Amino acid sequence: MQPWSFVHVTDIHIGSPRSFRFNPGYNENWLIARAQIVELAPDLLLVGGDVARDGNIHTYELEAVREDLGGLPFPYHVVPGNMDTGNKHIYRPSFRTDRDDRALNITSAQLRHFEAVFGSSSWSFVHKQVRFSGFCDMILGSGLPEEEPLWRWLEAQAELAAAEPSQYHVWMMHSAAFIERPDEPDWDPGQADTYHDWYFAPDLAVRRRLMEIFRASGADLVLSGHVHCRKRHLAGGIQFDISPSTAFPQWGHRWPDGDDTLGFVRYTVTDAGLEYDFVPLARTSDTKGYGPSGHPLPHLRDYSIADETGGDPQAG
Ligand SMILES: [Fe+2]
Repeated sequence: MQPWSFVHVTDIHIGSPRSFRFNPGYNENWLIARAQIVELAPDLLLVGGDVARDGNIHTYELEAVREDLGGLPFPYHVVPGNMDTGNKHIYRPSFRTDRDDRALNITSAQLRHFEAVFGSSSWSFVHKQVRFSGFCDMILGSGLPEEEPLWRWLEAQAELAAAEPSQYHVWMMHSAAFIERPDEPDWDPGQADTYHDWYFAPDLAVRRRLMEIFRASGADLVLSGHVHCRKRHLAGGIQFDISPSTAFPQWGHRWPDGDDTLGFVRYTVTDAGLEYDFVPLARTSDTKGYGPSGHPLPHLRDYSIADETGGDPQAG
């Protein structure tokens, strides 16, 4: 095989001055990453979700990202992140008072908005003997009408990959597949010290079923984002890679070998395997923005401070 490469970039969080919050630095960081990726000339780009700052409430942010990605000189493939479509569903009380976790659950309407812009959130294709499969993991465990069809699709991919084996199979989801190990018990969102472990990965019932699908599908690599900290796990012969954000770092303290340096990952495909190269941003912006971070309650979204008008979805 002639070596070739693909890039995984995630949590680019491109925002808009029409919004109640905007950090131009995130957008500048994306442009820096974008130029570096173009320079590397990969065959294709995988975008691991959280493409926008608030894509779940501002469709215009998703549309701007689509326009940007569409200008790249190679194809891109994207899965939604929780800031694009809503979070994994919560079934137990959260300890957080600064956010309403139940109100952040993924909804069918938000998923439809994303898919209206980017097309189906479940896709699989083969490029030069590598199968790439992506899906919206936040649907799993949600009980939404989209959940059972997604499980059936995932199981069908496992059958398809087994029937038509490729040299490698790369999966992409937004959440981390797990935090420490695939069979770890559920983390408790009701406790301060386990809230983020709960937040960043699926619960055990979903995870077990996913792991079986990955194994049956001959998975070699499972790509994730969401955490904004780079971390690699090898489990059951499958490489699980969480890639960093280009926008802002998070959770750098969670693993002794975690690295929250901003950047992206290039994989070079050879007969010997998938070579891993972390590419840090050539420089990072320190431009400051406005508005609250995290998941502000709706009444704290003040569009009157927007740099440009017209962002308030309530204002029509
Ligand atoms: Fe993110």
